[in-house]
Amino acid sequence: FHINLRSHQYRQLNSGSGFQNCTQEGVKDVETEESNKFVPFLERINLRRSESKRSILVQVQSAESYKELYTCCSTVGTVKNMFHYTTGVEPMHFILVEFTKESDVLNILSTSSYSDESQAVPTQSQFLWFKASNRKLGKLKQNKSFKLSIQNGTEIIAESEVRDKLRQCRTVSDQMNVLYDITKLNDVGTRLRYLIARQIESMVSGMFPYASVYPFGSSVNGYGKMGCDLDLVLRLMDKKQNDSRLIFHSKATSGSDRSINQRYVEAIGDQIYLFLPGCSQVRRILQARIPIIKYHHQLTDVECDLSMTNMSGVYMSDFLYIMGELDDRVKPLIFTIRKWAKEVGLTNMSPGRWMTNFSLTLLVLAFLQKPPNSQPVLPSLNALVKLAGPDDKYVTADGIDCSFLRNLNKYNTRTKNRETLESLLTEFFEYYSQFDFASKAISLNEAVTLTKPEFSAMYIINPLERGLNVSKNVSLEEVERFRQEARNAAWMLQSQEKKIPNWGLLSVFENRAKMDFKLNFAINAKHSRLMNVKTLFDKEEEVVFKNEEIKQE
Ligand code: GTP
Ligand code: MG
Repeated sequence: FHINLRSHQYRQLNSGSGFQNCTQEGVKDVETEESNKFVPFLERINLRRSESKRSILVQVQSAESYKELYTCCSTVGTVKNMFHYTTGVEPMHFILVEFTKESDVLNILSTSSYSDESQAVPTQSQFLWFKASNRKLGKLKQNKSFKLSIQNGTEIIAESEVRDKLRQCRTVSDQMNVLYDITKLNDVGTRLRYLIARQIESMVSGMFPYASVYPFGSSVNGYGKMGCDLDLVLRLMDKKQNDSRLIFHSKATSGSDRSINQRYVEAIGDQIYLFLPGCSQVRRILQARIPIIKYHHQLTDVECDLSMTNMSGVYMSDFLYIMGELDDRVKPLIFTIRKWAKEVGLTNMSPGRWMTNFSLTLLVLAFLQKPPNSQPVLPSLNALVKLAGPDDKYVTADGIDCSFLRNLNKYNTRTKNRETLESLLTEFFEYYSQFDFASKAISLNEAVTLTKPEFSAMYIINPLERGLNVSKNVSLEEVERFRQEARNAAWMLQSQEKKIPNWGLLSVFENRAKMDFKLNFAINAKHSRLMNVKTLFDKEEEVVFKNEEIKQE
């Protein structure tokens, strides 16, 4: 048994085939070791799910408890990996233990005991705590080379640290890569999210032994940062039918599909609320287009959204994942634009008349499919649909065809676009600051802009369900604000002085109020720039030129 102290850094391996492979040292099952091997999304999901079946999470007194925990676990199974992390202000310590076999976990669970507090619900799950013992540590299997992997499993890097690191970069492109590297979801964060999914699966397994819970959204599509929420979909029956003559009796359902779905989601929400350890703040959002249960997972500090619909969210994540793997500029660009949108207040946590990270991501991908002044970086979805083989055929329960090429090892087209990240970022801002949202819709299927089929302030055709507009919620004011902020950002990138401490991305991330002040300051200081600024901002003088004196000038 041997554990290497894991490096937190990902190796960026350029395969030369146009793909980006990010592997993390030490992770052998899921992250591929071969530099040019792409792991298809659903295969990756299944590897992670199987990893979670072989894992438990144990609350301990301190990182040092790993020695005793290791000994304890080794009496019933073979430990493969251990990761320590803390969470909370008064830190709680946790060790995630991965075994080599699923049966090891079953053995551990069958030999573990229940809390003796009278009020405690005797639920079994893969979340445990390790009781302190007075017994002396005997001669343990303490291998000298044994080291515990310490990762910041749930810890989000402080904003001041992010800014310091960005200040030290040499170019805007470097800043974008660094931002991606230091904020993206790490291996432990991913493992914990799959354990949360596993907890729901185990909860319902008595009645539904073939139930599966799939994570989707940013936790798995490659665009997740540390602390991102976890989107889950519960499928009660995830197994192909066989032709046995013995068939289970089952209850007939009554009512519309939607009302049944609402009742099921509600019932599962009650079980989470009543029985699942570590789950708190359970809320039902049953009237939404997709009814969900929201809850906070305290032991891992993750916000969860659980739904019971079809697999379209998972297939959408597959599409986004593939796009991110096709070129190593995609993820840093999307991370930067998501961060910019958050900082300038275009997106926020609560749903409303503003853009979501999802619609923003589609805007970036659509831009990369057809940058106005250069070669495409990404193919259209239709190009991937044409290349789909028999293994790529996926249709959701309600008939949505989600077939497209999923294995990029079979994709040989290389982009001719060699632009830097900085230039793509500036072009993105310029492109959308001038985009005709009033009459055009964005389609990632054909990689073109189309005439809008109906009035919505922003129209992004859902690539998998073409009748739907992903950005239907976005108001006219928000579209205008998006264009203005994009214009400001483009201007900032083009006119900045590298000597100022908050240069490059840092200036782009300044929020609007601060930026107005800076802009006014710049106008005062450099009279010669005034004309350029006026031309750029001619339609929004009221916003930019708040200061009466500058207006006069
Ligand atoms: P975060 O803001 O980091 O959570 O990004 P996210 O990509 O996870 O977004 P979110 O949690 O809002 O949504 C999760 C997933 O649900 C997305 O990745 C999409 O696959 C899907 N989704 C979100 N919004 C829509 C929508 O308006 N229409 C459709 N069809 N799917 C959506
Ligand atoms: Mg999400």
